Amino acid sequence: MQLQLNRFLLLALALLMSGGLSEAARILFMGPFPAPSHWMWLEHFQRDLLRRGHQVTSVNNHPTKKPHENLTEIIINPSFDIPFHFPKKNIFSMRYTSDFQNLQMWWALGLMTSEHALQDEKLKQLVASTDQHYDLVILEQFFHEAFLMFGHKFNCPVVTIGTMGYADNMDHAMGLLTPWSFIPHLLLPHTDRMSFSQRAYNAYLSLYDSIMRRWYYLPKMQELAVKYFGDAIKGPLPHVHQLERNISLMLINSHRSVDLPRPGMPGLVNVGGAHIQPARPLPAHMQAFIDKATHGVVYFSLGSYMKSTDMPPEKTALILKAFGQLKQQVLWKYENDSIGELPPNVMISPWMPQNDILAHPNIKLFITHGGLFGTQEGIHWGVPMLCIPLYGDQHRNTIKSVREGYARSLVFSKLTVDDLVSNIETLIYEPQYKRSAKQVSQRFRDNPMHPLDEASYWIEYIIRHKGATHLKSQGAFMPLYQYLLLDVLACLLLVLVLTIWLPWRMLRSLRKWWSATTVKARESKKEL
Ligand SMILES: *[C@@H]1O[C@H](CO)[C@@H](O)[C@H](O)[C@H]1NC(C)=O
Ligand SMILES: *[C@@H]1O[C@H](CO)[C@@H](O)[C@H](O)[C@H]1NC(C)=O
Ligand SMILES: *[C@@H]1O[C@H](CO)[C@@H](O)[C@H](O)[C@H]1NC(C)=O
Repeated sequence: MQLQLNRFLLLALALLMSGGLSEAARILFMGPFPAPSHWMWLEHFQRDLLRRGHQVTSVNNHPTKKPHENLTEIIINPSFDIPFHFPKKNIFSMRYTSDFQNLQMWWALGLMTSEHALQDEKLKQLVASTDQHYDLVILEQFFHEAFLMFGHKFNCPVVTIGTMGYADNMDHAMGLLTPWSFIPHLLLPHTDRMSFSQRAYNAYLSLYDSIMRRWYYLPKMQELAVKYFGDAIKGPLPHVHQLERNISLMLINSHRSVDLPRPGMPGLVNVGGAHIQPARPLPAHMQAFIDKATHGVVYFSLGSYMKSTDMPPEKTALILKAFGQLKQQVLWKYENDSIGELPPNVMISPWMPQNDILAHPNIKLFITHGGLFGTQEGIHWGVPMLCIPLYGDQHRNTIKSVREGYARSLVFSKLTVDDLVSNIETLIYEPQYKRSAKQVSQRFRDNPMHPLDEASYWIEYIIRHKGATHLKSQGAFMPLYQYLLLDVLACLLLVLVLTIWLPWRMLRSLRKWWSATTVKARESKKEL
């Protein structure tokens, strides 16, 4: 209650400082990526904008459960079938564990989902429309750069929301070169104290990423943009690479308490934790199940994309056997009733109000795939975690959690009953895990204002100041040789050559010539 009151006061203060509510704006809000977890995160921002009285047109894959008079939806239908193109069995068999494979998977996924969405008839109508006006375009900062063309089409500022934390290209768009000496690549789990070989690999991966992105991936995005916007926009289309540098603001899922400190720009705003709300009451049967667990509860979920039902059956049997040996009650997000015989201490359900469950003081442990949103929820509520990472950034998140001391990890392909049981018991019975979880939770909750309020404040700021170009540096538009001062160094080198090396060479040849002539003169004297 106290917390909510504070949040309200801060919000009121922020509104006062910003000169009262800004006019209701027309916002085009786009989350073309079909994975449910991404949209679940983005929808928090959309809901807050609606709450503030804005008109929102939303392009996404998930029809809302809470219709609103100021919300118009453009649902991409049918939505892109990720598991068809990227089979889940590859994920469970650990095919996406190399950094280079992960990068290529993202690019391929981005290009395919972008094109799929742009082919939707309703979206084509939006592209072709001439009577629409928007004050702002908001886009998920993922792999959908062709969509930046909507900002160009509607001649309005663009804000992006980065679901997965920082990537080098976000720095570049705001005018910063990421220092590879102490900022590990998005996919790497390193700290800012890298050994020589870590720095070398980081530089190699980061260089590969930026070159391939600029000269392989972005040109393909541009082809998509030209294909779908070419007819609708008069005049030559700008390059998506250029549009990226025109993004006004990036809201990034990162938090100072758990992510590495890194150089920033005013246009890069951290909003990690924006999706975490105060706990709401649980459904009665779950509340009773958790309340009466005298030894506490273990909560297990592999997230919204990977379904437990996609798991190989022998793993399901193994996990059930391990759970059956625990004293604790177990809540398992499992999507199929025909799981077989359940041990008496296990309850399954296809849907779990994760945030509200984790908030319950009786939850002793969260077994997770290490996705960013779930990890942040676990951190917020101070719950130790057992991470079983599968793909993408989950390996990185897991290593970070383990390093911070509130988590342990297991490899999915090498899971055994004994390992599972002993790790669960270690995490529950050794007090240092809970202690670390509490510490990091306190840091994570210590914010000047709720991250969601901060996000909405900056979004309205961009609308009020018509793009607020003062939030990014000129570095975004400089050629690399100027940014790195190579021209100045070259000039310095030239001056050194002209003032030191050249006179020195001339003096030397002069002396040689002089001694040669004097020797000759002496010799001719002798001859005489
Ligand atoms: C919808 O928007 C109008 C103005 O654009 C505003 O007056 C009204 O309160 C909004 N409705 C809701 C439910 O917020
Ligand atoms: C760049 O952004 C501004 C608003 O911040 C917008 O008016 C302009 O059209 C954008 N430029 C391009 C090339 O899209
Ligand atoms: C549930 O599991 C059964 C048996 O494994 C399977 O035949 C069925 O298709 C599954 N249902 C869903 C919705 O996954």
